[in-house]
Amino acid sequence: MLEQLSDIRERAMAALAAVDSLTALDAWRTEYLGKKSFVTAALKSIGQLPPEDRPVVGKAAHELRLALEAALEEARQRVLALEQERAAQAERVDVTLPGRPATLGRLHPITQILYEIYSIFAEMGFQVYDAPEVETDELNFQLLNLPPDHPARDMWSTFYTTRDGILLRTHTSPGQIRAMRQFCPEPIRVILPGRVYRYEAVTARSESMFHQVEGLAVGPRITMADLKGVLTDFARRLYGEHRQVRFRCSYFPFTEPSMEVDVSCALCDGAGCRVCKHTGWVEIAGAGMVHPQVLRNGGYDPEQFTGFAFGMGPDRIAMLRYGIDDIRYFYSDDLRFLAQF
Ligand code: PHE
Repeated sequence: MLEQLSDIRERAMAALAAVDSLTALDAWRTEYLGKKSFVTAALKSIGQLPPEDRPVVGKAAHELRLALEAALEEARQRVLALEQERAAQAERVDVTLPGRPATLGRLHPITQILYEIYSIFAEMGFQVYDAPEVETDELNFQLLNLPPDHPARDMWSTFYTTRDGILLRTHTSPGQIRAMRQFCPEPIRVILPGRVYRYEAVTARSESMFHQVEGLAVGPRITMADLKGVLTDFARRLYGEHRQVRFRCSYFPFTEPSMEVDVSCALCDGAGCRVCKHTGWVEIAGAGMVHPQVLRNGGYDPEQFTGFAFGMGPDRIAMLRYGIDDIRYFYSDDLRFLAQF
C-alpha cells in the first residue's frame, strides 16, 4: 500500500507538470483527488487494514492528499497565468495598423449631370429657378393651354392627390408660369430643374418619378434662332464639340411652333446602334416658342415679348453618358451601383 501511494505521487506530479489548461487541470483533479481517486479510496479503506498498519498508511495517505492539494493550488496559479497570456495574445491589438478608411459619400450620378447642366446654362446667363413638385391642375395644365378634357392631356398620365385640383407635376413646365409671374415685366433666362411624376408602368426605360430640366427665356426680341443656338451650344458642350443637332416638328400645347431636339448618337457617332435604335439620333428635349396665350398667362404682352422654352431629361442623359440600360438603377439606393460614379 505504501509503495502504491508513492507510485501514485510520482505519476500525479508528472501528470500535473504537463497540465497547461484549466480544463486539463480539472481532469487531473478528478483523477487524483476526486471521489474515485486512489487517494480517496485509500483513506476510506484504512478501517479494513490490520490495526498495526493503520497509523502508518493513514498518515502516508493523508500526507499524499495534502501534497497533491498543495501542488494543485500551485499548478492552478501557473495555468491561470498561462491562460491569461494566451487570451492576451489572441486579442492582441496592433496599434501600428492604419485605421479603417472612412467611406466618403459622393454625389448621385443624376446630381452630377444636373450640376453639369447648371454650369453650362450658367455660362449662357441662365439662373436656376425652383418650383414645387406638388402643383395645381391650373399651373400644370390649364395655364399651359390644357383645359380639362383637352385630348393632349393624354400625353401626361397624372398622379392626382385626394385634394381637388392638386397633383404631382407631370413636367417642369408649370414652373414657366411661376417664373413669368415672378419676373414680369423683366426679361427672363431661367432653368427649372427637378423631379416630375407620371402614372406609368415602371420599366427599364421609364420610372414613375424622373427628372426634367426646363428652360425658359422671355424677352423683347427672342426668336427661334436663339432657341436653336442655345440648344446646339448646350448639346455640343455636354456631348462633345462635333455633335450634330437636328430639330423636328412636334406638338406641345404650350409652344408654337413646337419641336423635338435630337443630337447625333454619341455612342456610334451617327452610324446607328442599339442605343439610338439604329437611327443615328437620340432625342434630348422637347422645345418651342412660348405660346402667346402662355405668355399672357404669365403676365407678358405677346405683342412686346416673345420667348422660347425647352424641357429635357437628365436621367436619359446620365444613361447615355454612363452606358446604363435601366433607369431603375438610379433609384434603387444600391451603393454597389452608386459607388461607381
Ligand atoms: N413639358 C414637355 C414634356 O414634358 C417638354 C417641353 C418643355 C416642351 C418646354 C416644350 C417646351 O414633355
